[in-house]
Amino acid sequence: MKKFITAVLIIYASILFAQQKTIEQRVDSVLTLMTLDEKIGQLNQYSGGWETGVRTDNSVRDREELVRTGKVGSFLNVIGADLTRKIQKIAVEQSRLKIPIIFGLDVIHGFRSTFPVPIAEASSWNPKLVETSTRWQATEAASAGVHWTFAPMVDIARDPRWGRIVEGSGEDPYLGSIMAAAAVKGFQGNDLSANNTIAACAKHFAGYGAAEGGRDYNTADFSERTFHEIYLRPFKAAVDAGVATLMCSFNEIGGVPSSANYELLTKILRDDWKFKGFVVSDWNSIGELIPHGVAKDLKQAAELGIKAGVDMDMESNAYIRNLKTLVEEKKVSVQNIDESVRRILRVKFELGLFDDPYKYCDEKREKETEFSKEIVEATRKVARESIVLLKNEKNILPLSKEIKSVAVIGPLANSHEDPLGPWSGVSDSTHVVTVLDGVKSKLGAAANILYSQGCTITGTSEDGFKSAVESAQKADAVILCLGESLNMSGEASARASLDLPGVQEKLAEEIFKTGKPVVVVLMNGRPLTINWISENIPAVVETWFLGIQSGNAIADVLFGDYNPNGKLPVTFPRSVGQVPIYYNHKNTGRPYNPKDHYTSYYQDLQNTPLYPFGYGLSYSKFEYSNLSLSSSKIKNGEPLKVKVDVKNVSSREGEEVVQLYVQDLVGSVTRPVKELKDFSKVDLKPGETKTVEFTITPDKLKFYDINMNFTVEPGDFKVFVGTNSVDLLESTFSID
Ligand code: GLC
Repeated sequence: MKKFITAVLIIYASILFAQQKTIEQRVDSVLTLMTLDEKIGQLNQYSGGWETGVRTDNSVRDREELVRTGKVGSFLNVIGADLTRKIQKIAVEQSRLKIPIIFGLDVIHGFRSTFPVPIAEASSWNPKLVETSTRWQATEAASAGVHWTFAPMVDIARDPRWGRIVEGSGEDPYLGSIMAAAAVKGFQGNDLSANNTIAACAKHFAGYGAAEGGRDYNTADFSERTFHEIYLRPFKAAVDAGVATLMCSFNEIGGVPSSANYELLTKILRDDWKFKGFVVSDWNSIGELIPHGVAKDLKQAAELGIKAGVDMDMESNAYIRNLKTLVEEKKVSVQNIDESVRRILRVKFELGLFDDPYKYCDEKREKETEFSKEIVEATRKVARESIVLLKNEKNILPLSKEIKSVAVIGPLANSHEDPLGPWSGVSDSTHVVTVLDGVKSKLGAAANILYSQGCTITGTSEDGFKSAVESAQKADAVILCLGESLNMSGEASARASLDLPGVQEKLAEEIFKTGKPVVVVLMNGRPLTINWISENIPAVVETWFLGIQSGNAIADVLFGDYNPNGKLPVTFPRSVGQVPIYYNHKNTGRPYNPKDHYTSYYQDLQNTPLYPFGYGLSYSKFEYSNLSLSSSKIKNGEPLKVKVDVKNVSSREGEEVVQLYVQDLVGSVTRPVKELKDFSKVDLKPGETKTVEFTITPDKLKFYDINMNFTVEPGDFKVFVGTNSVDLLESTFSID
């Protein structure tokens, strides 16, 4: 049997090798036929549809002529089986070398059927769920001619003022890495040439989330150690998961803009990580080397970009207008250009575009796929698991389905647009189930459901308060939907305040005064400083932006058809003055001690987060006990087993995300007070106890030591296991 398996493996490997060799051979065979102009054309990407950035030229773009003359290798923002087929037909029938176009699009959390925003999906702490979500997103997008998505966004964000925190998986590099790999697998599947898989793009490489002040596009500046241990890790996970492309970021890192960063794009990404795919610039990020002040003109920007390792130029015109001259002036080598062309052709081959350029242009499949029953159901399933229960005093939740009357109030109670969240692609708000819709369909005609908007999201008018209070007074319970509009987070959407905008908190105070049971449903793209609500409202549910099935998913949770189990992937501050605030912080030489004045704290604020990283409640109740380690002392390089008992002491079945953190007490450099090293989502029936086991392998303990060697140092460690990053059992071990 063993011999048979070995033989099969050898045959399979040789087929793969032959196939891979075929792709390499085929890439070379095309490359040798290309003129320099045609090579440069492959490096040029334009938006063929709506703009998702500032247009750099006002020239009339004749898409067909650009394709016919080989001046463009890729379009973004062109969708539809019909339109992409039309353009592809020109490429493969009328251009000289018939090289297919690759169509890219921001499928960030859905194509037509919008799924929850990524920070919501990260709140599920379920990588399989993220893989399922991105698999459906790819299926729907690929049916409409999309070959390539500019996702997953894997930027670590420790500053909720930064609007793009909504697009990623939060503040932790371990959780972020797990989610990055899951999304790549979901988008790309097992076969990039299948007609329901699309190339993924890990972005924005790199350090974009460290924008100073949380202001988008702003300077990022951090130590090399922080860069490698925090910001690069999810990108490495995406590369290890086989991501086909990366997108370089707008920001500089310590004086070097990413689009001109050879160390980043070539030494780290290619020499160290062996990345074989291609790098696309962000929108005009090569052109922006001029305002950054490292290029005097577009020609110098083009030279910097191509030499650093940016293969494709999105929308800056730098390459198409300057590379030929740069080659003629011997400032850029043809080899340099060939390498970038090769990388792009390779992905086009891997997508199967040379074999069948129309494989993604199937109008029938497009019609059958978009908003299909399975996909819509999937959006609801993913949405439910993305919800985080922040507070549930006196078990006010779940509400009874026999309730006689409910008031659904607030500016987000019946909004069809906001639940889509930013970057909702080409979705359609008429497909959104609002909270009001969801409550109505949950309770049916039996219940009396009242609705009042109460106020707008950002307005100052309190005129709607009176009717909202009247609705509340007539109801047995109030569902109060508050938060941000979809355009208050996402790109170019930083906020200096993290408070609820407008007069929403005042509305909450008026509703609270009615004395009715109130549940606040939050819809927002970032952590908010909801101190008064957290203090006074008995039940608070964080729903982020959950996509087209928001209302049904929220009603499933509020009325008990789904037991919430989400956990926060980001810290909620009490005040924007605490930012940046994150759980895996350093201890400092004077860690906060309430009994000692000379320690690190704010004198005008409680020195803890409003809600910590990893926090989330359930309708069930879980108790942790019997934390045990396989040994209190191990040799360097040995694994350590960690066990803990988790018991469901409630009468309701539920899921719990058991979290494992480690602290390296003494290192050659300072180490975080704790770091997430593993987690496991377990289902527990009422009264059931499960022993959850983790293995701390050496690679989980590695860090960049004083000499920037990635290594494990002997010494003493703490192990923490629990339900969030604060409520933890702890033990210790040491490494010889
Ligand atoms: C935008 C964004 C990037 C997006 C690209 C194309 O400026 O920064 O995330 O993928 O342009 O739309």
